[in-house]
Amino acid sequence: MYLTREEERILDGEFGEGTQKALELLVAIGDAYDSEKMIPITRAHAASSGQEGDLYFVELLANGGARCKVPTSTNPVYDIEYFDRLFVAPKDEAEVARRVMEAYERVGAILSWSCIPYLAENIPLFGETVAFSESSATPYVNSVIGATTNREAAQSALAAGVIGKTPGYGLHIRENRKATCLVKVEANLKDEFDYALLGYYVGKKVGYGIPAVTGITKLPQTEELINFCAMSNTSGAISMFYIPGFTVEAATVGEAFQGDVPEDKITVTKRELDQTYEELQSTSSELDFVMLGCPHYTLKQIEHVARLLRGKNIRNDVAFWVCTSATTKMLAERSGHVKTIENAGGHVVVDTCIDEPCWTAYKNKVGMTDSPKCAYYRRFKDVKVGRLQDCVEEAVKRKRE
Ligand code: F3S
Repeated sequence: MYLTREEERILDGEFGEGTQKALELLVAIGDAYDSEKMIPITRAHAASSGQEGDLYFVELLANGGARCKVPTSTNPVYDIEYFDRLFVAPKDEAEVARRVMEAYERVGAILSWSCIPYLAENIPLFGETVAFSESSATPYVNSVIGATTNREAAQSALAAGVIGKTPGYGLHIRENRKATCLVKVEANLKDEFDYALLGYYVGKKVGYGIPAVTGITKLPQTEELINFCAMSNTSGAISMFYIPGFTVEAATVGEAFQGDVPEDKITVTKRELDQTYEELQSTSSELDFVMLGCPHYTLKQIEHVARLLRGKNIRNDVAFWVCTSATTKMLAERSGHVKTIENAGGHVVVDTCIDEPCWTAYKNKVGMTDSPKCAYYRRFKDVKVGRLQDCVEEAVKRKRE
């Protein structure tokens, strides 16, 4: 891989050990993918988490004096304020989370602790070259916004943020952004939950590739696209997709396939969506908790929760959690939605999510969620998956005798 004089000096340690380690990682990735050279980026999103591996790398860079050169946002870790007051997380997990958060502060990251930073805290524009990790973030940025990113890890995205560059390979090259599979949707997608099921099914079927989705006749909503991204990049490795006519880069199927004729094709009907729904259920037992906000809920979704809970009481034996970003919670507080949810007995937490080790208290419990991704990670014993309305209904209804 070609390196500039400045990059060689970074590798020689002239700019400190943290920066040196960051570039060493990027060069190793570039070599593995036959990248010719490093290319500049304008922003990054590191899928930070309160786990030992993430702690190791961010502390390695922070202790070595590295600082982010471009805006670099961070993923959910731990709700320090709320958990210290209300929720007992295991001491050792809380300690790891705190150290991760402190190290990201030292490297000068944007402390967004959100998995949908592309809506508020760190928004790329069409055509920007970026390095975004996180399941929904990578495909959203590539497909909905039309910036370019590879499917980064937390570490490679952080390293790219520190250096301000990423190896030029993969989805940064136009020919590699060609669709690989035609997905014909012959089901009526009613809401964001249907998009979640569709994404989960498509990810599972396509695995690793770029689907071009047809049969969608109505402009998808932001939350629907977020769900499609998160789920398809969880059950599979979908870094990019097209919905020709709606997503930005290809107006037609022909453009999505760059003139080629699609060879791989799948069709999705109501039957496949129903099957996906059934496969996600692992129990019909009584609930211990409801977990919403995977990916982090938007203001619109929190408003919907508040509307459904207004004047109702969540059962005492069911914990009801809504995860979101600090930015969104602030607006939800101002708008009265947080109060409505809390009056019903629910909790709105920021900076964290079910995939974080601090939630291990739930590992032997039965949960319900509207997110196939949350169910996939199964940080708890058993799971039911359903629409938001069903989750709320289950949480407020009287216990079976
Ligand atoms: Fe976001 Fe955590 Fe779910 S990072 S997508 S809330 S597992």
